[in-house]
Order: sequence, then C-alpha cells, then structure tokens
Amino acid sequence: MITVLRHPLVDHRLAYLRDVATKPKLFRELVSELTVFLAYEALRDLLRTTEITVETPLTTTVGKKVADEIVIVPILRAGMGMLDGMLSILPYAKVGVLGMQRNEETAEPIPYYAKVPPAHGEELAVLIDPMFATGGSAIDAVSQLKKLGYRRIVFLSLVAAPEGISRFEQRHPDVSVFTAAKDECLNSRHYIVPGLGDAGDRIFGTL
Ligand code: PRP
Ligand code: URA
Repeated sequence: MITVLRHPLVDHRLAYLRDVATKPKLFRELVSELTVFLAYEALRDLLRTTEITVETPLTTTVGKKVADEIVIVPILRAGMGMLDGMLSILPYAKVGVLGMQRNEETAEPIPYYAKVPPAHGEELAVLIDPMFATGGSAIDAVSQLKKLGYRRIVFLSLVAAPEGISRFEQRHPDVSVFTAAKDECLNSRHYIVPGLGDAGDRIFGTL
C-alpha cells in the first residue's frame, strides 16, 4: 500500500526541491526536512511502544517509550541524503547500506555493495531512497533485506512514479510505501516527470 503525504508544508518544500535553480545546500536541507515528515507519518502505526512509569512534579503517570529496534537502510548514493533526517528523530537506530547503480540504458539496478546488520526478524527496517522511478532499485533492495531475514520493512521515498509503484506492489505487496509526491510518469530515459532530475547529483553537487 502506498501513502502519499498531503500537507501544505510538504508541498511547499517539494516546490523548491523540484526547482532547477535550487543549489545543493538548500536541496540537502529540503531532503532532510521532508524525510522527517515522511518518517513521522510512516512510523505512526508501525513503531511499537512499551509503557513506563513517569514521575511528573505532581504525580505518577504512565508514559510510553519506543520498544522497536530500528535499522535505517539508505540505498546509495541518493538515499544517504535522507539519513541525517532519519537519525535526527531516531538517533539510536542502526544503519545498513545497500549500494545500487542503475544501468543508464536499461534502468536495471546493479547491486555493488551491501553492509546491513544481521536480522533477528522483529526489528523494523526503514528503507530510504528519494527517487522511486521504475521501482527496480527498491524491489531489489527489499528482496535483499528479506533474504537477510528482515520481516518488517517500510520504504520511504520523496518522489514516486506510477510505473514503479505498480511494479513494486506486485512484487512486494506486504511492504508499505510512503512518498511525499506521486508524479505523472517516466520519460524515455526512465526519469520521473515532472520529478526533480538526478537526486544523487543534486545532493552531492556532481551535476
Ligand atoms: C537513482 C535513485 C534511485 C534509483 C531509482 O539512483 O537514487 O536509487 O535511481 O530508480 P529506479 O526506481 O528506476 O530503480 P542511481 O542508480 O542513479 O544512483 P545514484 O543514487 O548514485 O545517483
Ligand atoms: N533517479 C533519479 O535520480 N531521478 C529520476 O528521475 C529517476 C531516477
């Protein structure tokens, strides 16, 4: 199932993120801020809590603390741009990385690196990648995580194409997806339209 964020503060940031004139410094800041909004929404019903006793200045009450172990998994390279935002609200999370490079002609993902903590099955893996185009990278990344034993996985993206969404839903119907925007289509080079261009290049200033 895919959830598209619906909020004026998200739309405002997306407009600047898409703008071709936005430079890497602002682009990175916008990616981080949007990631916080995405995580806030996505984790609402996924994170499990345990009750704790809290002494207020007036009385004793029941509070809640997060009980889940969380593993954040950015897909290299562009997913790294979302890591700061994730860690700002989940500072105790573990981080695993999956390296993936799209073939420029076919858009097939070529996995080149994987370093992900071992799974015991109960932890929550939060896969992050700003661009969800053909869906190939996300599909492969989730397959890798499942092979490693992860059973609770959520995928966060900033901009998604309808083609990638339907492909992903067929392959991994058990994994929920959250995105800040669902765009119109892919172009002949498998780029998202209207999109924002090459997210990795814009984050890392390699245009
Ligand atoms: C981009 C993007 C995603 C992928 C999305 O990465 O960051 O990982 O393409 O496309 P898909 O849904 O069609 O798989 P790219 O391989 O260009 O590498 P980069 O992050 O290093 O720029
Ligand atoms: N990767 C990007 O960075 N942008 C797209 O539009 C598609 C894939």
